[in-house]
Amino acid sequence: MPAEAENESVPNTPFHRLGGAPVFEAICNRFYDLMEHDPAYAELRAMHAADLAPMREALPRFLSGWAGGPRDWFEANPDRCMMSVHKPFTIDRQTADQWAEAMQRAIADVAPQPPEMAGALSDILTQLARGMGRN
Ligand code: HEM
Repeated sequence: MPAEAENESVPNTPFHRLGGAPVFEAICNRFYDLMEHDPAYAELRAMHAADLAPMREALPRFLSGWAGGPRDWFEANPDRCMMSVHKPFTIDRQTADQWAEAMQRAIADVAPQPPEMAGALSDILTQLARGMGRN
């Protein structure tokens, strides 16, 4: 099959173009590894439950649906939105910056292709996190 036709069979979403579920899982696992082991993210770590396994599963599923991939997290959690998920937590500038920096590092470490789309993912997640940390 010519390369062009092959490319046409891959949906043109950020999720698919960045490599799909394995890439989103790798980014989120790296993100929680950094959160667990780097003291620079101690305050962010302290906000999370002792067991990060549920978040290692939930965050890549959320981000996959958000980026145009399978929407099973959204279907399984029809009433859950970003506001309700984070309402119990006081997110200040420090913890928002820690989230943004750990995510930037996780994306850079996994280094998905194409690099300009990985950069766009990193930028938009940084903006989202910083926007949540203004209170
Ligand atoms: C701004 C800094 C942020 C902080 C401090 C923060 C903190 C948290 C905490 C403490 C939890 C609960 C974790 C647990 O129960 O162990 C959580 C859940 C969650 N966060 Fe964040 N978060 C931030 C930004 C974001 C962003 C930018 C996104 C996505 C774009 C996101 C997506 C999620 C999701 C999807 C869940 C819940 C998953 C589920 O319940 O199924 N968070 N967050």
